[in-house]
Amino acid sequence: MSTRRLGIIMNGVTGRMGTNQHLVRSIVAIRAAGGVTLPNGDRVMPAPVLIGRNAEKVEALARQYGIERWSTDLNKALDNPDDELFFDAATTAMRPLLLEQAIDKGKHVYCEKPIADTYEKALKAAKAAKAKKIKNGVVQDKLFLPGLRKIAMLRDAGFFGRMLAVRGEFGYWVIEGDWGPTPQRPSWNYRKNDGGGIILDMLCHWRYVLDNLFGKVKAVSCLGATHIPKRVDESGKVYDADADDAAYATFELEGGVVAHINSSWCVRVRRDDLVTFQVDGVLGSAVAGLTKCWTQSRVNMPRPIWNPDVPQTMNFFSQWEEVPDTIAYDNGFKVQWEDFIRHVVAGTPWKFDLVEGVKGVQLAELGLKSWVERRWLDVPEVKL
Ligand SMILES: NC(=O)c1ccc[n+]([C@@H]2O[C@H](COP(=O)([O-])OP(=O)(O)OC[C@H]3O[C@@H](n4cnc5c(N)ncnc54)[C@H](O)[C@@H]3O)[C@@H](O)[C@H]2O)c1
Repeated sequence: MSTRRLGIIMNGVTGRMGTNQHLVRSIVAIRAAGGVTLPNGDRVMPAPVLIGRNAEKVEALARQYGIERWSTDLNKALDNPDDELFFDAATTAMRPLLLEQAIDKGKHVYCEKPIADTYEKALKAAKAAKAKKIKNGVVQDKLFLPGLRKIAMLRDAGFFGRMLAVRGEFGYWVIEGDWGPTPQRPSWNYRKNDGGGIILDMLCHWRYVLDNLFGKVKAVSCLGATHIPKRVDESGKVYDADADDAAYATFELEGGVVAHINSSWCVRVRRDDLVTFQVDGVLGSAVAGLTKCWTQSRVNMPRPIWNPDVPQTMNFFSQWEEVPDTIAYDNGFKVQWEDFIRHVVAGTPWKFDLVEGVKGVQLAELGLKSWVERRWLDVPEVKL
């Protein structure tokens, strides 16, 4: 058994996702566990070089997590032949350009979603990856949430029977910044020009969730809104929040399933979790949050009767049964990193390439168009 090094250029690691999910919960955790095991028993040890604009910040991060290499010079890092893989979790707006630079230099690439801020740019990056024959991938983390893995298990077990509809509720109130608590999310998310907007942010997640769990997305109708037009940024300055901060979208799926997902940064939570999906099938229904999942089968279903003259006697939440944790669920970002590393080094199968990323951006762009044109739009097949 031998251990092989994999040099990874990690860009945008001082950001929220870069630090928490990709560096700490994934790469640092994988290194601490002795690397990734390949099918033949050999191991791969990730050897990251952290890249950021602010030398002090990136050096402090590297020190904190025992990473030897860091730099502010991305171009130089891309020229190092010992680092084979480029990873990006920085701002969306710059992503397609950085991907193309890395691909051009023959690096394998892996990145956060969305892979670009427009369909055209996303397609260009995917085409470049195909032409250079490099390994490529995009984060599709929601599929690895225990709640959604339980839904997949129920589907595969035939629990739902014929699936009818999916309703998703995603979001919570993102503090405006002009009162009390500090905002929970970076301000660029609320500015169009900086790659912000909930439709671009969330519809690319919903594309792979719907495609993989419930049926391929055939058509979309989306109404966006900018409910809160002014917010306060990280430096305390008021700015125009001109990007959409809520999206009310309906999707037609292959197989006849209707999906409706509300995504909002302007909603107060009274449900099981920050995201919930209810799936209704002829034989049974399920509701999943991030980690938990509850079911009600047709024969265990009570018989509600509409009567507005008496207060409700049923406690609807108590009528559902929880799906137990029958396997260990590791961090989804880490699981995806391990799979991708195996794919890069050992050529194991990998589904979530940049073409899947293009599909996400495509749906987001069609969602925005549907909103502007106030109509349903078909989702054409993505062809490279
Ligand atoms: N998979 C998910 O669930 C998920 C969740 C949130 C965000 N994201 C995606 O991750 C990415 C980062 O989001 P975040 O919330 O971590 O944002 P963030 O603002 O916390 O981090 C952005 C990072 O990019 C860097 N950056 C910003 N402008 C730059 C520039 N001009 N040049 C170089 N570096 C620059 C910042 O220094 C920071 O390190 C976005 O593409 C976002 O869509 C994914």
